Amino acid sequence: MADHYAQPRENDGPTETPAIRWHEPPEGPVVVLLDQTRLPAEEVELVCTDAPALVEAIRTLAVRGAPLLGIAGAYGVALAAVRGFDVDEAALALAGARPTAVNLAVGVRRAQAAHRAALAAGGDEAAAAAAALHAARTLHRQDAEASSRMAGHGLALLDELLPGGSHRVLTHCNTGALVSGGEGTAFAVALAAHRAGKLRRLWVDETRPLLQGARLTAYEAARSGMAYTLLTDNAAGSLFASGEVDAVLIGADRIAADGSVANKVGSYPLAVLARYHHVPFVVVAPVTTIDLDTPDGASIEVEQRAGHEVTEIAAPQVPVAGAEPGGGIPVAPLGTQAYNPAFDVTPPELITAIVTEEGVVSPVTAEALAELCDLSRQV
Ligand code: MRU
Repeated sequence: MADHYAQPRENDGPTETPAIRWHEPPEGPVVVLLDQTRLPAEEVELVCTDAPALVEAIRTLAVRGAPLLGIAGAYGVALAAVRGFDVDEAALALAGARPTAVNLAVGVRRAQAAHRAALAAGGDEAAAAAAALHAARTLHRQDAEASSRMAGHGLALLDELLPGGSHRVLTHCNTGALVSGGEGTAFAVALAAHRAGKLRRLWVDETRPLLQGARLTAYEAARSGMAYTLLTDNAAGSLFASGEVDAVLIGADRIAADGSVANKVGSYPLAVLARYHHVPFVVVAPVTTIDLDTPDGASIEVEQRAGHEVTEIAAPQVPVAGAEPGGGIPVAPLGTQAYNPAFDVTPPELITAIVTEEGVVSPVTAEALAELCDLSRQV
């Protein structure tokens, strides 16, 4: 096991480039994204001058992760409003860009509702656009605040579940500052544990097929200076079997009313492994990810993505010129069919706790989730 405990590479320091920002150059307002398809090779910003550009960035995962999708959706509506485009048309396209993360529709709806309310109150287009932008900025700020509160609640929960404080935490996909107005969801809890001197190691699942773990979580972990080790998704089983995982921390794209959690494909097998090995399986997500209108896991629409993401090895920042159709290196015979759901659904009975900014739900029940949502509406 010596290799597992190798030191991380030298700390590069945190990235200076925010995952998303509103910018107003003389040519007109834009939404600027850190293009996540180019990480970790290079930090390149992608400038969106209209909602269709943002829709494309969402589809191609230049901007991704549930909370950030919400913020992007809200800024997208504001962009359409400020630039004088049809706001409802933009909102429809943005909300439909990806189906699973409910935050996207929530963000779009908030900015659209602010726009409509301003018009209904007798404001002109400029006032309505300003209201939409204000709603987007508010969501952005609230997400940053939620992130630090989740980190606090999550760390307290880890202390409770794992007294002794030398945690080896396994995580899946990417849930840090790249998906949030703040430091993220599950990763923010790992970061808080690291800062408190309680994180012994972060196990980072590579997260096939688009490698959000290898490309993005490892990038964030390296910059934070924490000890981390990358593994293939399939290696998680033997890691549990050898007793090297103390807890699993993951994010969520949508939490149904019954507590079922949709998250990056590969999360459900981790929950099964965690249960078999008596390891806590903890979901960290803001209240905006809870969707009481979706009754259960079976009702969550799981995004199905193109087969070439599986039949080709495509490091997105290194496209192979002339290769078709995904631009990557083919690894399967031409014409091979692929099953490529972007997410899977974990039932509530496999989840130890859901950590939100409003507190921790454990055990995970429909009643406890509804109560938490009520509480958050009153705040
Ligand atoms: O397809 P992605 O990269 O958008 O999927 C992201 C995830 O599944 C994250 O785990 C989830 O959005 C939670 S992030 C806080």
